[in-house]
Amino acid sequence: MKLKKKIKVAIDSPAGAGAGTQAKLIAKNYNLFYLDTGKIYRLVAYFKITNPKQFNYANIKKKIKKLKIKDLQNKKLLTNEVGIVASIISKDKKIRRLVHNFQVRCAYCPPKKYNGSCLDGRDITYKIIPDANFKFFITANVKTRALRRYKELKQFKKKITFNEVLKSIKKRDKSDYSRKISPLKKTVDSILINTTNLTKRACFLKIKKIMDDKIKS
Ligand code: C5P
Repeated sequence: MKLKKKIKVAIDSPAGAGAGTQAKLIAKNYNLFYLDTGKIYRLVAYFKITNPKQFNYANIKKKIKKLKIKDLQNKKLLTNEVGIVASIISKDKKIRRLVHNFQVRCAYCPPKKYNGSCLDGRDITYKIIPDANFKFFITANVKTRALRRYKELKQFKKKITFNEVLKSIKKRDKSDYSRKISPLKKTVDSILINTTNLTKRACFLKIKKIMDDKIKS
């Protein structure tokens, strides 16, 4: 499918709300370049965990310069521990500045074969793509999000209990919503999608209808 005009889709969401799943479905349906921006912070966090002695701004800068999308597909980035460290290092203004340009490039200059871009994260709707054609804030109640994350982590055979996941999601929510720099928030121009009682398919159809109506108009 080719769209008449290139589009940019910006999605913000708390952990485990299903934003990644929806963003991938949107990207596939409209042939958009997809970037899960949380993975960049996870990559930096993984670097901190595995190379604590080399962890400094100069080396993070080098890492981001060499960054390829396929580096973000490393399954080791998906653990709960990496998620927790990611939410700590993402409060650092200098680190956010270092990863900013990479995200902007993906959003505004995706490879030509795509009809545009779709990014999800915490500050996409107001910092990375403030002029996005579509802005969504995807959320779900905290227990539902924890259960989804728990099932995901179990798939990778991680030894973790539901209560541990719930506790760490609550901690991450607190940190992501309340931090001074680029906090998670729903902007007034973002459409709220609550996925608590929706299947993946139902949620996608809801988003697709909103997008198709605007694209056609
Ligand atoms: O989305 P995900 O859970 O993988 O993100 C990991 C952490 O990275 C989040 O808890 C958040 O603190 C941080 N993050 C961020 N800004 C983004 C994406 C993620 O601060 N755009």
